[in-house]
Amino acid sequence: MESITLKTPSLEGRIYVGTDVIENRLPALTQGQKNFVVTDSNVYALYSQWFKKWFDGVEIFVLPAGEENKTFPSLYAILEKMTGAGLHRTSRLFAVGGGVVGDIGGLAAALYMRGISCVQIPTTLLAQVDSSVGGKTAVDLGGVKNVVGAFYQPCEVLVDPTFLQTLPAREIKCGVGEIVKYAALNSEIFDLIEGKEDKFINLSFLTKLITDCICHKAKVVEADEKEGGERRSLNVGHTTGHAVELTSGLSHGESVLYGMLFETRMAIEAGVCEKEYGERLLAIVEKTIQIAPNAPLDLSHIEADAEKARSDKKNADDGKIKMSVAKAKGKWTVFSLPFEEYKAALVKAAY
Ligand SMILES: NC(=O)c1ccc[n+]([C@@H]2O[C@H](COP(=O)([O-])OP(=O)(O)OC[C@H]3O[C@@H](n4cnc5c(N)ncnc54)[C@H](O)[C@@H]3O)[C@@H](O)[C@H]2O)c1
Repeated sequence: MESITLKTPSLEGRIYVGTDVIENRLPALTQGQKNFVVTDSNVYALYSQWFKKWFDGVEIFVLPAGEENKTFPSLYAILEKMTGAGLHRTSRLFAVGGGVVGDIGGLAAALYMRGISCVQIPTTLLAQVDSSVGGKTAVDLGGVKNVVGAFYQPCEVLVDPTFLQTLPAREIKCGVGEIVKYAALNSEIFDLIEGKEDKFINLSFLTKLITDCICHKAKVVEADEKEGGERRSLNVGHTTGHAVELTSGLSHGESVLYGMLFETRMAIEAGVCEKEYGERLLAIVEKTIQIAPNAPLDLSHIEADAEKARSDKKNADDGKIKMSVAKAKGKWTVFSLPFEEYKAALVKAAY
């Protein structure tokens, strides 16, 4: 079991990674207070025996699976159930699932009685390498991703790669998409995955990558919890990715891969990203998209994507679209374009 500390002004949290984390940490974490679990319908169906073993007698809120349920009405229903269960300030919420459960469960923990203890148990690769760590919690509203939320750090994150054994290839691809994002920021992760894309189904290879990505994220979040500077690097591919997600109906991870594809091409074209390095990064992104090929992205939406990028919360008030992009190995920058230029560059990059 690997242990990583993430120390922010609000909390010193710990992240444990390994196939033994549940038996080593969960008994202690569930003792001594009232507990509440948020999970989703797929995870609950697949792991009903696991829940019986570890959370017998605990109130469990089962959210219907899917991003379309990361909403205010779902959040309200969770909070209502927490109130009905008589939770106190000292109670603890366990979010067991992918990024959707982690984001909405984390936000419920942040809001209930102005904040109760939260433990994240991520069950998708995307949630294990990325979303369960760093304390970003949110729901979507009015067609805008993650627009209502809070920074709220979990006291512990228990990352058990065994959960990945039931994950469909398409969801593995989504998580690898976030790993590729780390590769765009960290030369060691880049070297570890370049040319080894066929190993992404290997659990021990993934476990090493999960640990490396979490270590990278923990350092970034410690330096910049509220995303005033360095944490913006973690949004590589996400400006266009979020827009693609909203118009295409593809999942977050798949959309971010397209975001990285288009934004890297745009950055190379504009001379913002070194060409030779950018092409190596693009090769990794393209191979990752092929892990579980889906129907080609419907490019008839691309101008609508550009419009959606306008409402991205990373933009400031100057009307420019802001993208975090790789510029050289292990280096990133913010690439800003006025909206009309962004739209033209995106259309060119997508075809
Ligand atoms: N908070 C952050 O820092 C952050 C970072 C990245 C992404 N996100 C958010 O995360 C979400 C995407 O997360 P996701 O890709 O995990 O999506 P998800 O939570 O929808 O999970 C994907 C699918 O996998 C299923 N699933 C979960 N665990 C499983 C398992 N072990 N076996 C089989 N099926 C399983 C789920 O039921 C769901 O159908 C988005 O809402 C995105 O905005 C948040």
